[in-house]
Amino acid sequence: MRDTVIIIGSGLMGSGIAACSALAGNKTVLVDINPDQLDRGLAAAKANIGELLANGLADEAGAMKARELISVSSGYEAYSRSASMVIEAVVENLEVKQKLFARLDQVFPPEVPLLSNTSGLRITDIALLTEHPERTVTTHFWFPGHLVPLVEVVVGDRTDIEIASAVRDTLKSWGKAAVLVKRDLPGQLANRILQAVIREAVNIVEIGLADPEDIDTAVKMGMGIRMPVWGPLEHIEAAGLDLCLNVQRTVLPEISSRTTPSPVMETLVEEGNLGYKTGSGFYDWSVKDMDELA
Ligand code: NAI
Repeated sequence: MRDTVIIIGSGLMGSGIAACSALAGNKTVLVDINPDQLDRGLAAAKANIGELLANGLADEAGAMKARELISVSSGYEAYSRSASMVIEAVVENLEVKQKLFARLDQVFPPEVPLLSNTSGLRITDIALLTEHPERTVTTHFWFPGHLVPLVEVVVGDRTDIEIASAVRDTLKSWGKAAVLVKRDLPGQLANRILQAVIREAVNIVEIGLADPEDIDTAVKMGMGIRMPVWGPLEHIEAAGLDLCLNVQRTVLPEISSRTTPSPVMETLVEEGNLGYKTGSGFYDWSVKDMDELA
C-alpha cells in the first residue's frame, strides 16, 4: 500500500514539511545524505509539531500521533513500494537536484509523484534527466513550512496537469493553501508579487520619498491590515476597476519599472551591509529589535 511520504533533505524546509505531512496522518520518512543531520531533522520536525500545538494549530492527540508517524532513514530505496509521494528539499543546486531526480525516477514507479521544493529553479530543468517528467512538479512550501499555509504547485513544461492538480488536492487535504501555477517561469507566483513590492519599497528609498521605517509601517498598517482578508485582485474588485484604472494612469508612469536591481541594493551588499545578519542594511540593528517583529 502506498501510504508513506518520503522527504529528501531534513534541513530547515524538510523538517517543516515533515511536520505538515505527519499531522495530516501520513507515515513520513525524512531522508538525508548527512547522517548527523537525521537526528537534528527529526528533532526539528517534532519541535515544529510542538510549535503548532502551542499555537492552537494542532490538538494534543493529533500531535502525539504525528510525532510517532515520523521516522528517519539514510536512504530512500527501501520505500519504492510504499511511497505515495516523494518531496525533495535538498540544497538549491540544479546539478544536485537533476542527479537526484534521475535516480528517484529509476527507483520509484511512474505513478509516484516526484516533487521539488525548489525556491527558484525550474522543475522542467530539474526533471531533464528523468524518463517520466510528467510526474514531476514543484511544490514550493514557504518558510517556515509548518506555519505558512501557502504552497505553490508549479506545472513544468512536461508535467501532466492532472498529476499537478492531484498533488494540489493532496496538499489542500493536509490543510495547506495550495495554489496552481500553470507555467514554469522564474519567480513562480508569490515571489513575483513580493519582488514587485520590494522593488518599489527600495525605489522609494532611492528617490528619497520616505524613510525605511515609514515605508514598512505603510505596508504593514495599510495594505498589510487588509491583505489577510483581501488579495490585490479582490482589493480592486471591491474598490472598483474604474477607480483602479484611473490611479494606474496617474501612478504607473511615476513608479519604478526597472528590470535590474536598484543601485541602493547593489551598494549595500557590496559594502557588506546585508541586513540583520551583519547588523545593518536599511536599518541599524544595534538600535532596532528583531524580537519586536516576532
Ligand atoms: P538546508 O540546507 O537547511 O537543508 C538541505 C538538506 O539537504 C541538508 O540537510 C543536506 O544534508 C541535505 N542534502 C543535500 N544533498 C542531498 C542529497 N543528495 N540527498 C539527500 N539529502 C541531501 O536547506 P533548506 O533551506 O531546507 O532548503 C531546501 C530546499 O528548499 C532548497 O531547494 C531551497 O531553495 C528551498 N526553500 C528554502 C526556503 C528557505 O527559506 N530556506 C524556502 C522555500 C524553499
